[in-house]
Amino acid sequence: MKIKTLLLGICSFIMSASAQTIVDEVSYSNTDEVKTHHVHLELDVRFDKKVLKGFVEHQMTWVSPDANTLVLDTRDLVIDKVEAKEGEKWVPLKFQLAKRDPALGSKLTIDMPKQYTTVRVHYQSQPQASGLQWLKGEQTAGKKHPFMYSQSQAIHARSWIPVQDTPAMRVTYTARITTPKPLLAVMSADNSKNTELDGDHEFSMPQAIPPYLIAIGVGDLKYKRMSKQTAVFAEESILDAAVAEFDDTQKMIVANEELYGPYLWGQYDLLILPPAFPFGGMENPRLSFITPTVIAGDKSLVNLIAHELAHSWSGNLVTNATWRDLWLNEGFTSYVENRVMESLFGRRRAVMEQALSVADLKEELAHLPADDTRLKLPLNGRDPDEAFSGVPYVKGQLFLIYLEEKFGRERFDPFVKKYFDDHAFKSLTTEMFIEYLQEHLLKPYPNVVSMDKINEWIFEPGLPADAPNPTSDAFEKVEEEQKAWLAGKKKLKNLSAKKWSVHEWLYFINTLPRDISRDRMAMLDNAFKLTNSSNAEIAFAWFRLAIGNNYPAITKSLENHLVSIGRRKLIVPLYKQLAEHSKEKRVWALEVYKKARPGYHPLAQGTIDALFKG
Ligand code: BES
Ligand code: ZN
Repeated sequence: MKIKTLLLGICSFIMSASAQTIVDEVSYSNTDEVKTHHVHLELDVRFDKKVLKGFVEHQMTWVSPDANTLVLDTRDLVIDKVEAKEGEKWVPLKFQLAKRDPALGSKLTIDMPKQYTTVRVHYQSQPQASGLQWLKGEQTAGKKHPFMYSQSQAIHARSWIPVQDTPAMRVTYTARITTPKPLLAVMSADNSKNTELDGDHEFSMPQAIPPYLIAIGVGDLKYKRMSKQTAVFAEESILDAAVAEFDDTQKMIVANEELYGPYLWGQYDLLILPPAFPFGGMENPRLSFITPTVIAGDKSLVNLIAHELAHSWSGNLVTNATWRDLWLNEGFTSYVENRVMESLFGRRRAVMEQALSVADLKEELAHLPADDTRLKLPLNGRDPDEAFSGVPYVKGQLFLIYLEEKFGRERFDPFVKKYFDDHAFKSLTTEMFIEYLQEHLLKPYPNVVSMDKINEWIFEPGLPADAPNPTSDAFEKVEEEQKAWLAGKKKLKNLSAKKWSVHEWLYFINTLPRDISRDRMAMLDNAFKLTNSSNAEIAFAWFRLAIGNNYPAITKSLENHLVSIGRRKLIVPLYKQLAEHSKEKRVWALEVYKKARPGYHPLAQGTIDALFKG
């Protein structure tokens, strides 16, 4: 055994022995002394000022008899007053708001002369809240009414609610939200179908969730049911298209349940956001938030729905205790997502999706600092957003595929199911997972996978030499045809491209030689209209090739893509490539960015600002 692996093993043993004390280095909260178990929100949504104003009420349980403060996380909040309930009265409490830390925000310390159990913080958010986006009417599909929504993962809940902002704890919540009259408010809670549009909306989330899953959206939203358990909320003009695209959602729930046990959250709805949404999706419980850029017209990108739904088991039910353990959420979810895609659409498609993600991961691994390629992620005081990459997703997924292959599905599937069951409504660290894995898989089936191997996957950088390497027969055929065309042995019109799926197209484009001639690009473009593809992923892949190659025909459509889409994954790599390519392209990109920036989410603005500064 390598000394280093041995040491890591000992370390993880010691850490798991003291697993009760979970240290979340990006939360100020004193959850070891006092814990909120229920949050009640009363907030007024003020579009004119771009603020939420009202109060949060914390119902708390004291853990330590000597404790005399409540410490909450905040960022850019204005705190008006804090009070505690004493009998029938509210008594004022003293508080201190510390200087703002660039990553963590401002620690709010509330003095507790007695161990009160009900505390209200009256506050308002600010227009620059990192966890909210405020859109003007013209930035929506309907062009008329404003829209606002939250995105709290990882540590942005604190920019719109003073809370103990750590995934190690859970709260139930209720809310009363007031809005301008014609608008609908929805939350990650029960969303009643027949809410009157009277400007007053009430919610209740009876299942305990980590605070990063408290979510809100307000806009000119319509509702359409897809099945008994699933529905879409969206602006009217995209409602039908969304329903048509996502009408397999109920089947996905069924497939997921067959593998991993019952869906425990009742309803599962989708909220389709404006294109400015910086992510593909966000797994807010009972109501996933979804980018409209996956409405491709042919269900080619619905793995996103399988992904957000899978979080109802991995992430929302069984939660990473700290953001260093993000792979427990995202790796498991990517794995489950792909299993569900296999159930619905077959092995061929599932393997294509694996192969595409692994190719992306390998490219990323070549550029990331080694530390950020470990599954157990070192944060070292950084905002978790800064350490974000495909590693927890795809390396995590490959690790689980590795275990699946070693133990066989007949042993691995029941293990994963029991893992979800045994940790339902709990948070756990990587070390706690390792202990569970040892107990329930490695020991019952000895000599299949060693602890050394487990430690290598989790604590070492990069990919183990024997990592699974998914290969797709379909892609091999595409590659053959591509080679024949490049070698002049086959004409474009004789390629089987007409039958290619979006995945095969992505593979074809991504594996073209980066220095392919512009004439050849023009030939492809004429034949297949790639510059104007209505599939955002294909357009993205094509733009990447075209930028590197100075292929001029994309200019207008690239500009349109950058100005109309805010999903980071589809725009940041393009800006980066343009900025690094040449002075001329950098200047052009900056100009486009100037136009696009007001429409981007604060997170996307932050990422791209940094990119042009660097
Ligand atoms: N939970 C994530 C989004 C996220 C991760 C927000 C980390 C903030 C910090 C969501 O489930 C997700 O992974 N979305 C992906 C989906 C894709 C992998 C299918 C996305 O947005 O691209
Ligand atoms: Zn996810």
